[in-house]
Amino acid sequence: MDKVAIVTGAGGALGSAISRHLGTRGYGVVVNYYRNKEGAEKIAQEITSKGPGQGMACKADIRSFAEVQAMVDTAVKKFGRLDLMVCNAGGSLGMINRSGKEKLLLEHDEAEWDLVIETNMKGAFNLIKACAPVMIKQKNGHITVISSGTGLRGTLKMASYAAAKAGEIGLMKAAARELGEHNIKVNAICPGRIMHGVVAAVVSNFADDAYLRETLLHKNGDAEELAKFIGHLATMENVSGQTLNLDSRILF
Ligand SMILES: NC(=O)c1ccc[n+]([C@@H]2O[C@H](COP(=O)([O-])OP(=O)(O)OC[C@H]3O[C@@H](n4cnc5c(N)ncnc54)[C@H](OP(=O)(O)O)[C@@H]3O)[C@@H](O)[C@H]2O)c1
Repeated sequence: MDKVAIVTGAGGALGSAISRHLGTRGYGVVVNYYRNKEGAEKIAQEITSKGPGQGMACKADIRSFAEVQAMVDTAVKKFGRLDLMVCNAGGSLGMINRSGKEKLLLEHDEAEWDLVIETNMKGAFNLIKACAPVMIKQKNGHITVISSGTGLRGTLKMASYAAAKAGEIGLMKAAARELGEHNIKVNAICPGRIMHGVVAAVVSNFADDAYLRETLLHKNGDAEELAKFIGHLATMENVSGQTLNLDSRILF
């Protein structure tokens, strides 16, 4: 393949849209999953049958460097190169209390904090560390980290998620500084709220939807639009170290 991408959390709402879009752009797409094997295999097959791209499902728990390294090795063995790493897997990961509401900082326990930080922030670290040597050899590459507006401004009752997403932005900037000399472009995207199962369940708890009130366009974000942006960003050669807000809220 001419272009090859790994998309983590590719069976999820955003990851599946990103993977499918990269398939339409002709990428060899490594469709990463952790638990959702069936979803990832379905997306990989869809990419291959629609073409011009080719999909391959690949399991890795991004909290483990060894599993991430094995996934990068598999991608390079199968497709011969690696042009784009989309560090998408993560989220607030069940930080919801028994009434279906997000937890106050005082309700977080250590294990929940560790899960959110390890998946989002350490996961992105593992992914960058494993893909950078391949990209350094190629003297080219893009790494796109999916962060969140919550990492920029904090969100009530999402302390661990806010910390993890802010950490991803610091990590992205450090990586962009170190990898720039190798022509590796590293950026973070903060998508606006994109509705799907879990997000919709939480939103349904609120009588007043503060998110929509704050958006200048009075609407949610869109997964297809995000996917197209990521595809386009991967064609850009002069942008790195940036936090790109795909949101109609003014975040800071
Ligand atoms: N939706 C939004 O409104 C929104 C807004 C801003 C930012 N984001 C960010 O966008 C990204 C995707 O979110 P989403 O809304 O698409 O959530 P989602 O549908 O819940 O998908 C989350 C994905 O993360 C994967 N994952 C979880 N733990 C993992 C691990 N240890 N190793 C590998 N994969 C793991 C899951 O894979 P398995 O199912 O295979 O376990 C799943 O595919 C997240 O980083 C999130 O923080 C989302």
